[in-house]
Amino acid sequence: MRPPGARGRLVALRSKLTSFASGELPHRFTDVLVIGSGIAGLSAALAAAEAGARVLVCAKAQLSLGSTAWAQGGIAAAIGPDDRPALHARDTIEAGAGLCEAEVVEDIIGAAPEAIEHLVTAGVRFDRTPGGRFALTREGGHSRARILHADGDQTGREIERALLERITDFERIRTLEHTFAIDLLPVDGSCRGALVWREGSGCEIVWAHATVLATGGAGQLFRETTNPSTATGDGLAMALRAGLPLRDMEFYQFHPTTLYVAGAGRALITEAVRGEGAILVDRSGRRFLEGVHPLRELAPRDVVARAIVRTMRETDDTQVYLDATHLDPIFFRRRFPHISALCDAFDIDFAHEPIPVRPTAHYMIGGVVTDPNGATALAGLWACGECASTGLHGANRLGSNSLLEGAVVGRRAGQAAAVRARSLRERGDTRPIEIEHEVVSHHRLPQLDRTDLQRSLQATLWYDVGVERHATGLRQALERIERWIGYALDREERDPAGWALQNQLTVALVMARAAWERTESRGAHFRLDFPQRDDERWRLHRAFDLEALRDGAPPREVSVQGRDEGGAS
Ligand code: FAD
Ligand code: SIN
Repeated sequence: MRPPGARGRLVALRSKLTSFASGELPHRFTDVLVIGSGIAGLSAALAAAEAGARVLVCAKAQLSLGSTAWAQGGIAAAIGPDDRPALHARDTIEAGAGLCEAEVVEDIIGAAPEAIEHLVTAGVRFDRTPGGRFALTREGGHSRARILHADGDQTGREIERALLERITDFERIRTLEHTFAIDLLPVDGSCRGALVWREGSGCEIVWAHATVLATGGAGQLFRETTNPSTATGDGLAMALRAGLPLRDMEFYQFHPTTLYVAGAGRALITEAVRGEGAILVDRSGRRFLEGVHPLRELAPRDVVARAIVRTMRETDDTQVYLDATHLDPIFFRRRFPHISALCDAFDIDFAHEPIPVRPTAHYMIGGVVTDPNGATALAGLWACGECASTGLHGANRLGSNSLLEGAVVGRRAGQAAAVRARSLRERGDTRPIEIEHEVVSHHRLPQLDRTDLQRSLQATLWYDVGVERHATGLRQALERIERWIGYALDREERDPAGWALQNQLTVALVMARAAWERTESRGAHFRLDFPQRDDERWRLHRAFDLEALRDGAPPREVSVQGRDEGGAS
């Protein structure tokens, strides 16, 4: 099936975003370059430094800004007395709707208890019961209470604080804030570092024996998202330009419950609120998940998000309501201090009235293809955290498994990167090389209203590549995105806002194309025109590289390995 749109425009998808000559730029040298300072990047940096490597961590904003610091509910690990990694793995596979890689699930989930120990050693203070055990809660799709949390509903802020403090113990770790990675430097089949731009000084080359991509997600592609401003899919687009395939990009997760009041942005109301007993009702007070799934409000996220969208349509409402009025308000305030403060700020009396909520874009399930250790197909490059696709999440991520994946795979990537750096250093293989790249643009747009284009892209993704999809909307989205790429990528930008917009357009193209081609519904990908799951045709991963996108050729199909028997949704 030939995808819609005018092929000719996609020649603007180039292998680099900007012209440069390495000989004319300032250089830096490091053993391991880590791009990103969330849980994945900082876990990698710490592991690499513990193994003796010199590490440089760069982040495009301040170090603490990213999804990690915004995480609320917690981190999943089978450590409760009634729990076992096998049960956690089973729940993960069930949510993953037939696309989890069973061996990867067992491996990463099995490493969860050790990852928690590492975080505690690094200084993370998880909440505990009066008896001193870790306090555990439940979230959607989990059959046991296994979510560790911190400061009630501010788990990510505590993890980020502790990891940022911990890296200061290592002189070997240096950090660069406000440093935007533009492109990776693949040379003769291995990654030699990255071209970066630093606020105040411009472009530089960072030469690294090993590079770890930990750039997070892409929620900013959508009009409504829980994600911070940093989540523009830069790492995904960089990897694609470096020749790597992106896998499972049609699977984007929408979180069911974000606060819906004017002026509140789209602040997340953690699933743990439902885990503690809050229920979802429509404007008439009907508990609409009754009869939809046996777990009702704690069904997998895709099920809850779709039920909300359907209910909003049926009740002609812009929202549904999270009712916590039956919970003890003193307990609620203690357990959810951040959400309580948010409700107070917007005059919502959660003890007496339900909280207005609706779904928004939340988590990039697909990403750069890696093994469970974060290794990519490009020597010298690892990817971890939300920008990577290990096969753990399948078609739908189980809540609180992403911080876990970032911690486990981040550490492994950092360790492996340090090993490579040591061996290259011992071989004396440390020379910089001449790289020149010239971008040839055909369009001579005097000016591009980036804000306008960004908003148009976000609206298109939200309406046409959102919770519910259909061929008509997807076709329209693809045609628009390709048109925009035709002129917005065929020009040379000079600053991070311009490069980030080009990255977003690139990632949007892959998402829309993957969603258009998958003519079935599975996990987070729901097609109104193909509402059934079709295991015979579609129980496989699909990976797009730059060539497949440019010439409309079919993507690579990869069957699901291992013993995954498939989930239910
Ligand atoms: P991030 O923490 O997003 O960090 C990305 C880093 O990359 C940042 O430092 C950023 O500056 C940097 N970066 C990006 N692009 C560039 C570039 N071009 N150049 C240089 N640096 C760059 N998951 C859970 O498991 N449990 C939860 O309770 C939970 N709650 C969540 C709540 C919210 C509101 C959100 C948004 C997400 C939540 N998630 C949760 C998901 C989880 O937080 C993320 O998947 C995870 O934190 C991602 O970590 P990361 O290290 O991959 O990326
Ligand atoms: C939440 O707290 O509901 C978000 C958890 C997650 O995204 O894993």
